[in-house]
Amino acid sequence: MIETDFVPLPYQQEVNEAKITWKSPSNIALVKYWGKKAHQIPANPSISFTLSACATTTSVTFEKLQTPSKGSRFDFFFEGRPKEDFKPKIDQFFERTKTYLPFLGSYHLKISSSNSFPHSSGIASSASGMSALALCLVDFERFLNPEMTEAHFIKKASFLARLGSGSACRSIEGALVQWGAHAGIAESSDLYGIRYEGEVAAIFNNYHDTILLVDKGQKQVSSTVGHGLMHGHPFSEQRFAQAHDTVSSLQSILASGDLKAFIQLVESEALTLHAMMMTSLPYFVLMKPNTLQIINKIWAFRERSDTHLCFTLDAGANVHVLYPENEKTLVYPFIQEELLPFCEKRQHICDRVGFGAKKVTATPYN
Ligand code: DP6
Repeated sequence: MIETDFVPLPYQQEVNEAKITWKSPSNIALVKYWGKKAHQIPANPSISFTLSACATTTSVTFEKLQTPSKGSRFDFFFEGRPKEDFKPKIDQFFERTKTYLPFLGSYHLKISSSNSFPHSSGIASSASGMSALALCLVDFERFLNPEMTEAHFIKKASFLARLGSGSACRSIEGALVQWGAHAGIAESSDLYGIRYEGEVAAIFNNYHDTILLVDKGQKQVSSTVGHGLMHGHPFSEQRFAQAHDTVSSLQSILASGDLKAFIQLVESEALTLHAMMMTSLPYFVLMKPNTLQIINKIWAFRERSDTHLCFTLDAGANVHVLYPENEKTLVYPFIQEELLPFCEKRQHICDRVGFGAKKVTATPYN
């Protein structure tokens, strides 16, 4: 599909008012998206586990305007309070999506969002937040064009979510989502994420992700700035090529269930992401001393316990500890005893692989 396939046909129905609510999860990348081109096109393909516990619930109330407006008109509330500092990001999202959602000029929107995870936990909420908002918008469009197929609905939600935040396009479905054109994955696209349909061994069912909150402070580098650092980066071309090979390797590992190979791939991806930041200009070290303490503890425990936990990192200091369901009785007590002392106030989130966003309500009032 190409961009223009997401411009809708003339609307068939009229709706004056509606309220739509979706709950959308976060996701954790196994192969990382780091570097992008214009219009939110990724510089390399990525694959993520969709999560379950970390989620954003967003309600949008639509009210038809008496006279259509050129710019988008909306109010934004976060956890029940008006939140002005989120508005520029949402404004930018409406600007990028208006061609694909022409109804936007004819409605006033009241957007209310809340997160299941603690506010300012350093956990990125843009993936869950932007995907929940995109789902509400495309679900409203389905009232206007009831013939929209389910397959188009899912693709368009992911396409729009990407325009809000790249990784958000991987938060519509589960359990594994792939985004970015890749020669070995049929239907893969730079424009939206797709559910990973390759063979996946049972060991990856119900995989755990215990998120350790090492540093709850404001991110040192926003992802937009971070992606920008890959322009003119001395290792960018090798990195982008490597990610294609890593996705291919991950396909075989997912099919075979080879956890040793999985650990190596996932940890190497996380460290490569941080290596890119350490070797850019300007350079950043986003790990904290406690991030390294945790990594060393994980390596030591894995060595002595014959378990298969591993870590991955986003563009920050928090650590995601990944492990299979059948090892949780060994791994979780280890996390509690040896890793939580390195977290701020022992804070952590017990998450696991999930199956994507869920509609809460969608009611048109005419
Ligand atoms: C390190 O999706 O937050 O988490 O498209 O600028 O909103 P924008 O970036 P964003 O980048 C996420 C980067 C990452 C890796 C990943 O999730 O693949």
